[in-house]
Amino acid sequence: MQQVIYLDNSATTQVFPQAAEKMKKILLQTYGNPSSLHKMGYEAEKELKEARHILGNILKVNPATIHFCSGGTEANNWAIKQAARRHKKKGRHLITTSVEHVSALSSFKELEEEGFHVTYLTVDERGSISLDELRSALKQDTILVSIMHVNNETGTIFPIEEIGKILKDANVIFHVDGVQSFGKLGVYPEKWGVDLLSFSAHKIHGPKGTGALHINKKVQIPPLLVGGGQEGGKRAGTENVPGIAALGEAARIVADLEIKHTKYAKDTQTLYLKKILLEYLSRIPGVHFNGASEKHNTPIINLWFEGVDKAEVLLHMFEEYGLYVSTGSACHSRHQEPSHVLQALGARDEALYGAIRLSIGYLNKEHEMKQAAEIIEKSVKEYRQLWC
Ligand SMILES: Cc1ncc(COP(=O)(O)O)c(C=O)c1O
Repeated sequence: MQQVIYLDNSATTQVFPQAAEKMKKILLQTYGNPSSLHKMGYEAEKELKEARHILGNILKVNPATIHFCSGGTEANNWAIKQAARRHKKKGRHLITTSVEHVSALSSFKELEEEGFHVTYLTVDERGSISLDELRSALKQDTILVSIMHVNNETGTIFPIEEIGKILKDANVIFHVDGVQSFGKLGVYPEKWGVDLLSFSAHKIHGPKGTGALHINKKVQIPPLLVGGGQEGGKRAGTENVPGIAALGEAARIVADLEIKHTKYAKDTQTLYLKKILLEYLSRIPGVHFNGASEKHNTPIINLWFEGVDKAEVLLHMFEEYGLYVSTGSACHSRHQEPSHVLQALGARDEALYGAIRLSIGYLNKEHEMKQAAEIIEKSVKEYRQLWC
């Protein structure tokens, strides 16, 4: 069987075997409805409580502020749309960035159709915003600021703690899309003044279709989904108990791994591998990085090669050798349009159409970094012979 080197962990990850086992046990044994009054319902509720507790511990927040939902897309829709709608009497101005995930940007588009005004902060060539631009965008009628923690295409880290300080006296709601940072970087919503935080299970070796929105107790936002009184009346629908328990398990494993790894290495496990991969990649002639992705302390590398302007062709060449990556962001990589993120940071055509994203996960091994770089080098050479 051909080896598989999976470097598309920002799109999704392989579920940790322990998390999968947990799901299996719940699907087959502890399958009660957590709202049921009998013992099986109580057992299921216990699983939710345990997951909430693990996540609360990691984020250093009260577990009761964690509200489970179907993932990052729902959490972003919920936070952005409902926070704006709830506070529209106070004002109709919202602030975000031009490089947010499409689930956030689409929520803002809907709000614009409802009469809200949105300021989209620009980014520089590293994908970073200017805090001065943020300060001057804040107005009397600004009610919500929504900024991602880590960009899913370039790995750029946004200074959430500093932004929290700027917003402290502005009397606005602060939402952070933490989908690409949760479980990889420290994320402390309460300490940083973040009111709403979205995160997702399948980016940290948990299952797809599960995630959560942390809602600070001081902030009022109505539910997006209405029906039964689940999740403290904030999100209706029978909870995905197997998925939620596996999210808790995956988060616990990732937190443990990082504690163990940083005991003997300066870097986190994925950053350690990123450095090794970058060392090999930098030897390939004509390699360039988008958004300074080689410099960010996140497990994402966005790169392009001189003479390679069809990323999809290259991606399929990699696949022939068992290497799996993305072109741009996986969520819209089936669309022909170039990435809005790379456009926003002013990437020129070759960088836009030839962009490949490599993203490292906790199940990658050190030896795979050299193998992946060899496959990339070989494929780029073949591409140039065929197309140049
Ligand atoms: C930054 C970011 N936000 C939100 C999402 C959506 O999360 P989900 O796939 O859980 O809906 C993604 C997924 O790629 C993402 O990268």
